[in-house]
Formats: sequence, C-alpha cells, structure tokens
Amino acid sequence: MRRAIVAGNWKMHGSRAENAQLIEELLARFPAQPPAACVVCPPFVYLQEVGRLLRGSHLSLGGQDVCADAQGAFTGEVSAAMLKDVGCEYVIIGHSERRLLYRESDQLVARKFGAAHARGLVPILCVGEQLADRDAGRTHEVVARQLDVVLELCGAGGLEQGVVAYEPVWAIGTGRNATPDQAQEVHAFIRARIGARDARIAAATRILYGGSVKAGNAAELFAMPDVDGGLVGGASLKADEFLSILAAAGPG
Ligand code: 13P
Repeated sequence: MRRAIVAGNWKMHGSRAENAQLIEELLARFPAQPPAACVVCPPFVYLQEVGRLLRGSHLSLGGQDVCADAQGAFTGEVSAAMLKDVGCEYVIIGHSERRLLYRESDQLVARKFGAAHARGLVPILCVGEQLADRDAGRTHEVVARQLDVVLELCGAGGLEQGVVAYEPVWAIGTGRNATPDQAQEVHAFIRARIGARDARIAAATRILYGGSVKAGNAAELFAMPDVDGGLVGGASLKADEFLSILAAAGPG
C-alpha cells in the first residue's frame, strides 16, 4: 500500500506573522491520525522558523528547490545538506515555474534530483505539459522526456523513496484542474514508464497530482487508483482548505 502525501507548496507567499498564524490554525485542527503524510514547503528564509513551529507534530517540512551542487561558490543557492540541517525531509524539484521562468533544463532538474536523493531528502519531481503540448497530443512525449532524464541519471533506484508530481502547467493557478480521468491517464503512464525499468519501484512510487487542487475536487482526484495525493499551491495557504484536502486523502 502506498501512503498518500498531501504537500503544500507555499511558493513565494507568507511572512513570519502569516506563517505562524497558518501553522497555528493547521495544528489546532490537525488530525491525531492523519490519513496521509502531510508536508508544507515554505520559502527558504522561513524554513527554520516554520520547522520549529512544527516540532512534535505530524506535519513535515520541505524545500521548494535545491542546488544541484553540494557546496561551494554558488551565490544564492541552497544545498541539500542545508535543507536537511534545518529539518527538511522533502524537496520539490523541477517545478514548472522553475523550468519556465528560470529556464531550468531537464538535465539540471535531474542533477538536483540526484543531489536531493544522495542527501536522503525525498525529492518530489514535478513533471507536466503545457497547454500547447496537450492540444498537440504531446502530453506523453513531454512527461516521458522529463521523467527519462532523471531515470537515466539516477536509475530507477533514484525513485526508491522518491515522489513524482504530475502538474499540467495549464492547471496551475488557473482554477481549471485536470479531470480525474485526465490525471489518472497520465499517472498510469508515468507508473508504467517507471515500471518498464523496475516494477517494484514503480508500484511503490507515490504519484501526486497538482494543479488547482481544492477542497471541492480533492476527493474525486485522490480516488483514482494511480493518484497518491496532491501537491497543492494556493489552497495550501488556507488552513481550512488544506485540512479538507488532507481529509480527502482518507478512505472515501
Ligand atoms: P495551484 O494549486 O495554486 O494551482 O498550484 C499548483 C502548484 O503549482 C503546486 O506546486
């Protein structure tokens, strides 16, 4: 059985005061036995403080990005060891905003994935097509390319504890989520692609859906057989919404 994950990607939102309030609201109503692993990914500068607020809770901490290199003269970068040092268990890798706005190549994303994995972080590898790709029938091609570069560099073993997040770019922040069938179709494709290299690892890999996940659509998305939870953007900034999404990961 794969344990589902509900992860909140705060992106570049929050302040010390807002973060403290959000965490307080989340912890006040956090289930004693959460139906899924639950992660929050604040901006780098807030990781340590949010980590302190989470201590002793069932909420885990994750970074939003990581440097591909271990240490050295890389101004502005944050290493996997540093993320571990401040209490991160997870890190988002290759989010479409990083790929598109900051020109991260598939190769760089794969190196980041390797760096995170080598340090014992759980990498959450984001893949997903743009609308033009989907319209042109190239969804599988794009997702396969993004996945294969990581599988080539790190082997299927790189996904041993790893997580894949399918985030169709056209569904991110648009309010237009993929339908459960659309998500399931791509998730099954991703699992089969990993399975072609290692069936055991494919069966164990958590594949999250991301893109306009809300309290109102989470249950139907998470009910699909290959959807093992969600990577949540905007709705992770509201305690009520995020807790409802977490609850939707439980047995329906
Ligand atoms: P939204 O949930 O705001 O669409 O963002 C999804 C996302 O990019 C999570 O990483």
